[in-house]
Amino acid sequence: MKLNIALLAGDGIGPEISVQGRAALEAVARRFGHEVTFTEALVGAAAIDATGDPFPRETLEACQAADAVLFSAVGDPKYDNDPAATVRPEQGLLAMRKQLGLFANIRPVQTFDSLLHLSPLREELVRGADFVCIRELTGGMYFGEKHEGEDEAWDTNKYTREEVERILRVGYQYARQRRRHLTVVDKANVLASSRLWRSVAQQMMGEYPDVETDFMYVDNASMRMIQEPRFFDVMVTENTFGDILTDEGSCISGSMGLLPSASTGTGTPVFEPIHGSWPQAKGKNIANPLAQILSVAMLLEYFGLSDEAACVRRAVDDSLAEGVRTPDIQLPSAPRYGTREVGQWIAERIASV
Ligand code: IPM
Ligand code: MG
Repeated sequence: MKLNIALLAGDGIGPEISVQGRAALEAVARRFGHEVTFTEALVGAAAIDATGDPFPRETLEACQAADAVLFSAVGDPKYDNDPAATVRPEQGLLAMRKQLGLFANIRPVQTFDSLLHLSPLREELVRGADFVCIRELTGGMYFGEKHEGEDEAWDTNKYTREEVERILRVGYQYARQRRRHLTVVDKANVLASSRLWRSVAQQMMGEYPDVETDFMYVDNASMRMIQEPRFFDVMVTENTFGDILTDEGSCISGSMGLLPSASTGTGTPVFEPIHGSWPQAKGKNIANPLAQILSVAMLLEYFGLSDEAACVRRAVDDSLAEGVRTPDIQLPSAPRYGTREVGQWIAERIASV
């Protein structure tokens, strides 16, 4: 297969982990006889510095021309504490999602047996937890009408039937490939938008009699996720709730540096770690490249390359088993490996087994 990848490294630790994601993809391509080409493009603070725009036209065009985007992270502290800033790195990410029509964000929450001790939850609670959060990504408060005055401000949480229906269908497709259990997370006891979600889901569930559908308020879901994470199989929710719940989900695994995600919809799909740009670690060779490398596995799965994806996942598992780990997940007395060393080890493992 020929794959043209737009490589958007972004800010902070983004460039360092991007290199390792690329190395893993090149190794797998060599090993399985695929042809991968990369087009690098700017996004986030790096793009603002160069062009004034966090998602410049050339970047959009590079994404549109590609088969997939391998994205790393955006964000820079110089914008975080300045509410008056009119242009922000995060706008690049939101513009990319909107302009590529990426309405479905797939965020798997998985645990690794060798890392259970890192979870803030007790091992017996998290062992075997394995669910997918499907977050609606182009609607709701993120993109609804806003007003920002001196003394008054608001965001509108608007959803249409069509938007709700298409994301629920993605959820049902995942549920059918998994344990056939779908939980719709909303706040229908308070919010009109959530009542639309619930009624659309109630109308659709009859089409999926083989899937068990249940409904949970978001406050309750946030509690259930840490009380009994194994309850969940596929969770579908709106943009804002999904943003919050997936950060909570990521800590179940023990490190944010472990979880990949995929964003799909009508345009070029994007594969990215769920963690941010961790500016404090920039250039220190300490960031964990696994979430980025596992994003490569999700990319391969998207194109039906399941043996290739399995090879990447195996190499990641082997690196954990053999103790080749960055400091965030390393045992106290074991040697610490850098971003580069872990990435190179995995690329070599992909090439050799
Ligand atoms: C995420 C991030 C983004 C979001 C930010 C960086 C705009 O937190 O992908 O979860 O809120 O969607
Ligand atoms: Mg988030």
